[in-house]
Amino acid sequence: MTLFKSIAWATCASAALLALPSTAETDAELLTYGSNQAYVQKCMACHGEEGLSGTSQYPNIKGQKAMYIEAQLKAYRAGERLNKLMQSQAVALDDRTIKALAMYYSSR
Ligand code: HEC
Repeated sequence: MTLFKSIAWATCASAALLALPSTAETDAELLTYGSNQAYVQKCMACHGEEGLSGTSQYPNIKGQKAMYIEAQLKAYRAGERLNKLMQSQAVALDDRTIKALAMYYSSR
């Protein structure tokens, strides 16, 4: 590795460290994260645009309480609520993403 590359790496690494949030994420930041990410596209396939399902097979989640949505996603993920379709979705979600998605759908 050239000296230049080493310096560039060191600079990037320290910039990344500085960019880490020092305080907890605000609700607004979480909502922005929830709205923009690729997961919403996935959920949309069954739950419809903004959580209003177009078919009788899938429940509406638009406007549902965030706490409820969060609890259900965690229950699917933990295998406490059983549904193959939703369990396979929920296992891919971390706590932050679940919270963000819950806020997104409850705010629609
Ligand atoms: C392949 C279709 C499919 C996809 C994709 C999908 N869901 Fe679901 N979802 C379902 C079905 C079917 C149910 C009802 C399952 C049951 O009876 O427990 C459900 C239930 C739910 C519930 C519980 C609703 C309630 O009233 O209790 C929530 C919350 C939910 N989904 C959120 C999501 C989120 C968020 C995503 C995206 C990460 C997502 N779903 C992706 C099919 C899907």
